[in-house]
Amino acid sequence: MARLLINIDHIATLRNARGEGNPNVLEAAKVCLQHGSEGIVFHLREDRRHIKDFDVFQFNSELDTYLDFEMAATNEMLQICSEIKPELSTLVPESRQELTTEGGLNLSKVFEDYQNRVIPILHTAEVPVSLFLDPNPHEIELASELGVYAVELHTGTYSLASGKARDYELDRLAKAAELIHEKGMKVNAGHGLNFENIHDLLAKVPHLHDISIGHAMIAEAVFKGLGTVVREMADIINAYKG
Ligand code: PXP
Repeated sequence: MARLLINIDHIATLRNARGEGNPNVLEAAKVCLQHGSEGIVFHLREDRRHIKDFDVFQFNSELDTYLDFEMAATNEMLQICSEIKPELSTLVPESRQELTTEGGLNLSKVFEDYQNRVIPILHTAEVPVSLFLDPNPHEIELASELGVYAVELHTGTYSLASGKARDYELDRLAKAAELIHEKGMKVNAGHGLNFENIHDLLAKVPHLHDISIGHAMIAEAVFKGLGTVVREMADIINAYKG
């Protein structure tokens, strides 16, 4: 059965906008966990634009939950991840210029490096590995050869598509999920998921395990919470009016 994991990165984006501690990312993670998230996902980027190193160490020491450490396979990240030993490490491509992760790994290109350096480091540290991939059968075969625990299917193209292209993307995701399952790996999914596109994903894509959602949750939270806080402040100010 599929379960929800909330990606907490953009709470940190908001905090960093003021350079102080508000909103508190750890407290936000706890709220997610109290309301149905079955774990926390965070992406420690090379440029530390949202999650910082101290967040990672704090999640590890303060949260008794399933942590999915998303990262690029640099030596620095591999070292931090080996120290933290999260329940899962999801490897993603990363470029400094991108606003968010733009596509799955090009596993054909990085296969040897992953086989010889990346996967052995994580497996020696006993960290299960997930690879963020586009729904491409060849890449999934390569993931299976690497002996990883899971593949996270990149749902970004599906999330942006409409009409026939959307059906086509759903079909690709469904076939890819079947192949990942056949190969004995867990099927995770994420990127661009929201209250509108989650339904067809759940209905049409089999074997879903972890569903990672970030940006849309934080964006929706603004509208589900903004009215309440504005009313509270207006009531305080109005109470002082002569
Ligand atoms: N999964 C992966 C591998 C990602 O890189 C991201 C974005 O950080 C997500 C899931 C979550 O995507 P979104 O913020 O669009 O929900």
